Amino acid sequence: MEPFDLVIRGGTVVTAGDLYAADLGIRCGRIDAIGAELPPGREELDARGLVVLPGGVDPHCHIEQLSAAGIVNADTFESATASAALGGTTTVISFVAQHVGSSLAAAAEDYHRRAERGAIVDYAFHLILADPRPEILKEELPPLVRAGHASLKVFLAYDRLKIEDEQYLDVLEAARAHGLMVCVHAENHGMIRWMGRRLVERGFRHPRFHVPSHPRIGEVEGIHRAIACAALLDQPIMIFHVSTAEGAAVIHRARGEGKKVWGETCTQYLTLTAAELDRPGIEGAKWICSPPLREPSDQEALWWALEVGTLQCVSSDHAPYRMDATGKLAKGENPSFEEIANGMPGLELRLPVLFDAMVHGGRGGLCRFVELTATAPAKIYGLHPKKGTIAPGADADLVLWDAERAVTIADGPRRDRAGYTPYAGRTVRGWPRHVLLRGRPIVRDGELLGTPGQGRFLPRSGGRAAVPTGRSEPEFDPARNFGARLR
Ligand code: URP
Ligand code: ZN
Ligand code: ZN
Repeated sequence: MEPFDLVIRGGTVVTAGDLYAADLGIRCGRIDAIGAELPPGREELDARGLVVLPGGVDPHCHIEQLSAAGIVNADTFESATASAALGGTTTVISFVAQHVGSSLAAAAEDYHRRAERGAIVDYAFHLILADPRPEILKEELPPLVRAGHASLKVFLAYDRLKIEDEQYLDVLEAARAHGLMVCVHAENHGMIRWMGRRLVERGFRHPRFHVPSHPRIGEVEGIHRAIACAALLDQPIMIFHVSTAEGAAVIHRARGEGKKVWGETCTQYLTLTAAELDRPGIEGAKWICSPPLREPSDQEALWWALEVGTLQCVSSDHAPYRMDATGKLAKGENPSFEEIANGMPGLELRLPVLFDAMVHGGRGGLCRFVELTATAPAKIYGLHPKKGTIAPGADADLVLWDAERAVTIADGPRRDRAGYTPYAGRTVRGWPRHVLLRGRPIVRDGELLGTPGQGRFLPRSGGRAAVPTGRSEPEFDPARNFGARLR
């Protein structure tokens, strides 16, 4: 038999379900063999002393996206996916952002063109429906589904983004017809507007007031309404970026009742708190994101919700804006919190920060780390088993990870274009050394080798993404069934 293209030798292979010493044989970009003492390959990569993980799957990141307020976030597909690769993430799901009055199909074409040119890692898109008028749902959506789009995002809050309940039901109905997953930004719009107006009128303009302007009960209401509407149509949904204990509790209860709801939280809600915004001057703007950072007690509740399966994945919600007139300070040097662009960078540091917390900090260990950051998002969004695991036939998207390397995260710019990181000053243990995309090194010894355009679009079929109820879907292993943990 022809030799393997590459053998990764002597590492500890980690999947969501297992951890064992093995060599990996790679052919034509895929994992071809897993075993002890594989025959020599044309090339060899020494993994002794390293853990071999599936490349991260970040299911929620905003890349080169024009916001509803008219600001393009700081990254291009090239800079964002370079930062993803350097942090061990080999698949991203970013967004096609439709705006009110505009065409979804034209937006999709535009994002495809830019991603094809710039992406260094593989990618798929969630389609943001800001204006789900009948011709969009009836005429533009079906060809996009046939072209491999399998998930939508809707907002229940924010000017120029939010849709009313009746429109949301229209989206759910269309998603059900095509077998799509619907991801929901679930906050109460009126509460945010009402609180924001009163705070600013009384002179409370500092970034720290972003937090009370997004009442916790507003997240509870939004999640509850999102689930209730979805239940009316028996349509699966994913609640994005859950930030509060109470929000997670709503999902917990709904899943216990058998509702088809999944939940995501993000690195920042697990590892940062609202105290970050409480800095002199405008500095706290760096930590403004929506929903806002919350309290240490929320972190505990979110870790617990991940542990018991109420929430299934941890994304970055990478949404980078620079601290200048192109981004956070577009409305001047001294904006009120309401005028500051929402979002923070996180694609690169998602895996290192979570690895440190989960593996060295005792929050679930290595297999759970792989499950939450790669396997579960790949399954939920219809990318598994091609992505998100180490198994024969899977794409050879691999991270050779130095579990002991301690890195103090420097203040200042990183490979993305935000110009800062919210995690500056933190020392994390565990860092990616080599990263492979479909068997080819895109990071070697921490140096970026990947080139723009190397990333490929990952078409997904409608139907698969929508069925992982955890009970009836045969490809779900009941032993690792998220839902079963609750019952
Ligand atoms: O503040 C955030 N997270 N901005 C990104 C947009 C969103 O709703 O995810
Ligand atoms: Zn959102
Ligand atoms: Zn987001």
